Amino acid sequence: MSYKIAIDGPSSAGKSTLAKALARELGYVYIDTGAMYRAIGYYLIENGIDFHDEEKINSVLDKIDVTLDYDKENNLHVYLNGKDISDKIRTQTVGEAASVSSQFAKVREKLVALQRKLAEEKSCCMDGRDIASNVLPNANLKLYIVASDECRAKRRYLEEKEKGIDTTIEKVLAELRERDYRDSHRELNPLTKVKDAIEIDTTEMTADEVVDYVLQRFF
Ligand code: DC
Repeated sequence: MSYKIAIDGPSSAGKSTLAKALARELGYVYIDTGAMYRAIGYYLIENGIDFHDEEKINSVLDKIDVTLDYDKENNLHVYLNGKDISDKIRTQTVGEAASVSSQFAKVREKLVALQRKLAEEKSCCMDGRDIASNVLPNANLKLYIVASDECRAKRRYLEEKEKGIDTTIEKVLAELRERDYRDSHRELNPLTKVKDAIEIDTTEMTADEVVDYVLQRFF
């Protein structure tokens, strides 16, 4: 029987680091749903489409094919219409385009159907905002990952600095708060902690400590 782990939480709380590591340790498939919304955001930017324009987005959705694949080292790659865009979607602009366009019903319908299909009959670890509440409501383990705003902003700031992006902690913090607000206040499948989710606050923990904690407590 397949085992499903659903991991939700706000941006930069450590969801994908945990999901990736658990999938590796347990031999499960890792499904990064944020990357799929980012692929749509990237398409909209590349094609000069306003990511607030629901009608226009609906009219191009059929032209957008998002797929996930894994290389020999089991690293996840995201493909947009057959092209590997994995290293192009981790920017602030693509994140914003993903957060705004993910509010629209047809965008969510398309990606949720794909996410459920990818998870079919497989043991997997899926991270996002609505995994336990909507995509995989029967998941065997539901984790809700949080960290203080300041800690998340610092982590994001260091990641951006490493990529050579010129920014400040204050700017990153403001962007994070704006995105969290939008992701948790939208009408359709907003970020929520379901009743049977276990909350883990990673503020004072290293990435390895979080993985060890989950493995020891649940496996
Ligand atoms: O996790 P991330 O930062 O890569 O996600 C980018 C955006 O995609 C996020 O701000 C909101 C949206 N998203 C969503 O609506 N539902 C999900 N399951 C995952 C992401």
